[in-house]
Amino acid sequence: MKTRITELFGIQHPIIQGGMHFVGLPELASAVSNAGGLGMITALTLGTPEKLAAAIKRCHEMTDKPFGVNLTFLPTFANPPYPELIEAIVEGGVRIVETAGRSPEQYLPVLKQHGVKVIHKCTSVRHSLKAEKIGCDAVSVDGFECGGHPGEDDVPNFILLPLAAEALKIPFVASGGMADGRSLVAALALGAEGMNMGTRFIATKEAPVHENVKQALVQASELDTRLIMRPLRNTERVLRNTAVDKVVEIEKQKGAATTIDDVREYVAGAYVKVMQQGDMEAGAWSCGMVAGLIHDVPTCRELVDRIMGEAESIIARRLEGMRAA
Ligand SMILES: Cc1cc2nc3c(=O)[nH]c(=O)nc-3n(C[C@H](O)[C@H](O)[C@H](O)COP(=O)(O)O)c2cc1C
Repeated sequence: MKTRITELFGIQHPIIQGGMHFVGLPELASAVSNAGGLGMITALTLGTPEKLAAAIKRCHEMTDKPFGVNLTFLPTFANPPYPELIEAIVEGGVRIVETAGRSPEQYLPVLKQHGVKVIHKCTSVRHSLKAEKIGCDAVSVDGFECGGHPGEDDVPNFILLPLAAEALKIPFVASGGMADGRSLVAALALGAEGMNMGTRFIATKEAPVHENVKQALVQASELDTRLIMRPLRNTERVLRNTAVDKVVEIEKQKGAATTIDDVREYVAGAYVKVMQQGDMEAGAWSCGMVAGLIHDVPTCRELVDRIMGEAESIIARRLEGMRAA
């Protein structure tokens, strides 16, 4: 399939794997890229520029296809060395960066100077327009359904995507709730040039996470996510577990007076325990409502091939067959 996104990034299929803390490592990124999509290494999981450089090197050894690096500018408990991480990206020969969280404006000149294409993740039309204005090459439009940080506007993709299409000149992908060929065709119909998936890519053979996490996604329904940290204006969609229930309870009791210290023990540092050790109750971890659409754990190639096959069949048979003669 050829879209402005496949052209921009030099990929076969318009499917991107969004950056994911403790999931977006070279094993997954290279598998997605080898399957014809665009894999993404998550810089903050590696933490230091040296470790990021080593991960980029390892990813190059596993794929000769393009892949990107996610740089997340979120309020974190540490202060990541962004300029040095960017140096590692550029020197590692990576030419695609997914930014998220705060505006990437201050880092765009250095990225552009090295020919890096930047796709910025936005949860609103106004932020998407800002990304276009400051010179981003594309936007990942993340609807309310998404796993991770949906922002504070709560606009789902059926509204957000057509509005983005009306407003933007640069290409964008649909993100949040995307799982299969139906998602891809719908995204294209709503004006996107492809789709970005997070949660769906965790339940793949190559995702370097504990088997318990993959099985939790297969078991989960669309009703099993919760929004936490809204009183902190840092809303996150996570899979429900005992730690998340506790956070919800604290936030209900304390309301707008909730502070990060009230919930820190349930939200900080959970990723190592959940993703690597498979302790599913250890703390809060991002997960999209799309978990309800995940029923199996295929390889990335099986997943991407299936999505493209389904999309092709929907367009050529189902939709074409519905057209009045
Ligand atoms: C476990 C997990 C961790 C994530 N970590 C990050 C991250 O570190 N940075 C980021 O920009 N997005 C992160 N995301 C968001 C994804 O990149 C993507 O935008 C989102 O998952 C799309 O929604 P979906 O899960 O419905 O596909 C994360 C998502 C998940 C599920």
